[in-house]
Amino acid sequence: MLNKNDEVIIDIEDIGSDGEGIGKYQGYTLFVKNALPGDQVRVKVMKPKKNYGYARLLEVLQPSAYRVNPLCEVAGKCGGCSLQHLSYERQLAYKQNKVKNCLERIGGFKEDIRLEPIIGMEEPFYYRNKAQFPVGRNKEGKVVIGFYAGGTHSIIDTSHCAIQAKVNDTIIEKIRTFLEEYQISTYDEESHEGLVRHILTRVGFVTGEIMVCLIVNGDDLPYKEKLIESLVLTPGMTSISLNSNKVKTNVILGDKVITLWGQPFITDYIGEIKYQISPLSFYQVNPGQTKVLYETALNYADLKGDEVVWDLYCGIGTISLFLAGKARQVYGVEIIPEAIEDARQNAKINHIKNAEFFVGAAEEVLPLKYKEDNIYAEVIVVDPPRKGCEESLLNTIVQMAPKRVVYVSCDPATLARDLRYLCDRGYQVEKVQAVDQFAHSTHVETVCCLQRVNC
Ligand SMILES: C[S@@+](CC[C@H](N)C(=O)[O-])C[C@H]1O[C@@H](n2cnc3c(N)ncnc32)[C@H](O)[C@@H]1O
Repeated sequence: MLNKNDEVIIDIEDIGSDGEGIGKYQGYTLFVKNALPGDQVRVKVMKPKKNYGYARLLEVLQPSAYRVNPLCEVAGKCGGCSLQHLSYERQLAYKQNKVKNCLERIGGFKEDIRLEPIIGMEEPFYYRNKAQFPVGRNKEGKVVIGFYAGGTHSIIDTSHCAIQAKVNDTIIEKIRTFLEEYQISTYDEESHEGLVRHILTRVGFVTGEIMVCLIVNGDDLPYKEKLIESLVLTPGMTSISLNSNKVKTNVILGDKVITLWGQPFITDYIGEIKYQISPLSFYQVNPGQTKVLYETALNYADLKGDEVVWDLYCGIGTISLFLAGKARQVYGVEIIPEAIEDARQNAKINHIKNAEFFVGAAEEVLPLKYKEDNIYAEVIVVDPPRKGCEESLLNTIVQMAPKRVVYVSCDPATLARDLRYLCDRGYQVEKVQAVDQFAHSTHVETVCCLQRVNC
């Protein structure tokens, strides 16, 4: 057992679920942020518990062969990236292993499963099309704009982020200059005073269109015409708006958006499908890898053109619209009414007539429709949040007995649990494909194809 403030030297042997290094000191496990397997490190114990503890990295004595210099100066402090100091190749190996371990440990699958090699990004930097920068002031009264330090709400002033669209650097500098020049107040979380809280930007990677939205603790922005004059000079600027959020909350966006200049939305494409994206819409943040993910889902659905497909947890209908071109009819189900409004609008602007959307919890809508309307499906696609699918939903899927189930997952642990449920009730896993959507984080997306046995 170690005590607080003890300093020890350990070898890091493993990597934890949040990207932290794991090593042992005389059998006692320590978790160390920013340490990597293969590193020998000197650490200071910060939070000792009975069987394990958390320690701070003081010095890397022997670096791991997989350690690289992060591109971003603040990578170690910022809460955004937890793996930028690990080579991208090893990040992919770590994610592939995470999926494999969950399938084996939680799902009980062994060699009987075909796990394809993970699909990584061609360029693992500057891939995010959406950024939300908190705004504040430092002790000297200077404007700070950047990201929260890991696990805190203290803002690290950042002029450049290595995973966001590069145009953000220009936008942030313009807003910083404006806030300083016109002495616009910035929001203080403690006192709930001050005006500018956050800056939201979105960039259409295919169209080049740019959206800037300032989130304010009020209804207006003094000297807004000066800011607009400056922002519109940025090539691609399409939409400038204010979002009013007067609530003392950690939720970034309020409900009300006022367009200050240009359109209330930008447009972008994933594959052939066009999307209108407003400040409040959900939209995938890595469009390049989203296309890869959806193409894999479409491929696994193996549609011939005459199928009825249910897309559960459909969000703004992204997968549904992708599938609609290859199916007879697609039905989408999503719990958030605004997302369904976007889904219907997206179907309309793409002239897609064979996609219908329902608002509600998938585990309520599907069983009810099955019981009352006797619906059926050749293929069911699910893309649930991290907690996975409710058992009642999986049970209805088993009863409906579609030929194929395509499971898109952002959490390999709940994926493995749900696959086991389906495989114990007439399904067999055909293929599993991990896709890296979020380089430098520990997250991994997985698509899985299940086939009904004997059909
Ligand atoms: C991982 S996202 C997938 C969204 C969409 N398939 C996409 O690719 O953009 C999960 C979605 O499930 C929705 N959701 C959460 N719980 C739900 C439930 N019980 N029933 C239906 N939708 C739900 C969330 O609002 C979110 O849009």
